[in-house]
Amino acid sequence: MSKIIIEGQKELSGEINISGAKNSAVALLPASVLCKSKSVIYNVPEISDISYLIEIMEFLGCKIENKNGGLFIDTTELRNEPIPENLSVQMRASYYFMGALLARFGKVEISFPGGCNIGARPIDIHIKGFEKLGATVEIIKNRYIITAKKLKGTKIYFDFPSVGATINIMLAASGAEGTTIIENAAMEPEIVNVASFLINMGINVRGAGTKTIEIDGYKEPDNGVVDVFPDRIESGTYIIIGALLGKDLRIKGIIKEHIGALLMKLDEIGIKYQIDGDVLTISKCEDLKPVNIKTQVFPGFPTDLQQPITTLLTQIKGVSTIEETLYENRFKNTYDLNRMGAITNILTLNKLEVKGPRKLKGTKVITTDLRGGASLLIAGLIAEGVTEIEQCEYILRGYSNIIEKLSNVGAKIDFFE
Ligand code: EPU
Repeated sequence: MSKIIIEGQKELSGEINISGAKNSAVALLPASVLCKSKSVIYNVPEISDISYLIEIMEFLGCKIENKNGGLFIDTTELRNEPIPENLSVQMRASYYFMGALLARFGKVEISFPGGCNIGARPIDIHIKGFEKLGATVEIIKNRYIITAKKLKGTKIYFDFPSVGATINIMLAASGAEGTTIIENAAMEPEIVNVASFLINMGINVRGAGTKTIEIDGYKEPDNGVVDVFPDRIESGTYIIIGALLGKDLRIKGIIKEHIGALLMKLDEIGIKYQIDGDVLTISKCEDLKPVNIKTQVFPGFPTDLQQPITTLLTQIKGVSTIEETLYENRFKNTYDLNRMGAITNILTLNKLEVKGPRKLKGTKVITTDLRGGASLLIAGLIAEGVTEIEQCEYILRGYSNIIEKLSNVGAKIDFFE
């Protein structure tokens, strides 16, 4: 079993470059199969979720070359095969092949997707959307068989602005006849990134980034080119690390508008930073004030930064609270944080209280999900002594080259296979 070992309390200075966003890239790769012959995706992060998606695409007959900073994807020989369960369960984003293959072939067969165990994570909104477009969905023993003689554009109202459902329905609607209107769509930057790829391959998409998105179906999408946006969650994670251990730590690749809610909370806590273009510079801050955080859909405070910021809250004098409104099982990291010396209490299913400041001590911990892993890794960086993080594969799912990035700025951190 692989592990990360950290010797804590090292000051961090130098520059960290932010990679392409995981949650954009994992949608852009499946979206590329809409293209009749080829497409290019630049700035793809080096994370294990991407390796699994490439495996699925190669299984479907795509030829993929990694050169000149981009993934060059040839889809001329794409086949519509049922996607094997051992591949689809490796990550959540395998569900994007539902929308993309349905648009291209009118049929798709795939198992229920995997992903971090942070809640039930149903996909009913995706399924209802496919059905509204005219597809029939059969579920046989965890396998989804989705078929449509013809997809027809229509108006779809989402019960909840789900990121995955918004993207999946945009993909399916690309292959529909006429115009699809999604109401109460998600507004996360990932949606805008995917829309720009679709537009680049010839599909008319309007309103991405707002609550209403319109997509005109198009028969011949091709030659899409797109840059993956910088990862706002990775940016946020390193900013939090900088606030705890930085000495003029420079984080390059920031899009201020994507991390607005985090910056507002850092202001409230009393954390100082400077932004110059796409570089944010931050140093360890003192005299921090406790805060109340509530996770929300974009532009609210992102659930994916809730666990990383919990570790920061353990260092603040007073009582902070976190209300998690997206997932029902995203406080699992607090068990090990407490073992390291933090005082966190789960007050109700979705409310956490964090009492500080607490000195953390290195010990053996186990990662149970990606962002929880990030929270423990941050704890290891600030703790006295050595922290050993087991099951660190979760962290590598979402943080590109994290060991190198942190070592390069002065952290004592090693990965053991
Ligand atoms: N939901 C439903 N039904 C659906 C879809 C969603 O009830 O059909 C619920 C979910 O159970 C959850 C909420 O709606 O409670 C939000 O789900 P959403 O569909 O927006 O999330 P997702 O597409 O499954 C993506 C990211 C997550 C990120 C969320 C929210 C990917 C692969 N995953 O998940 O990323 O937390 O959006 O921003 O893009 C992570 O990176 O650590 C991560 C978990």
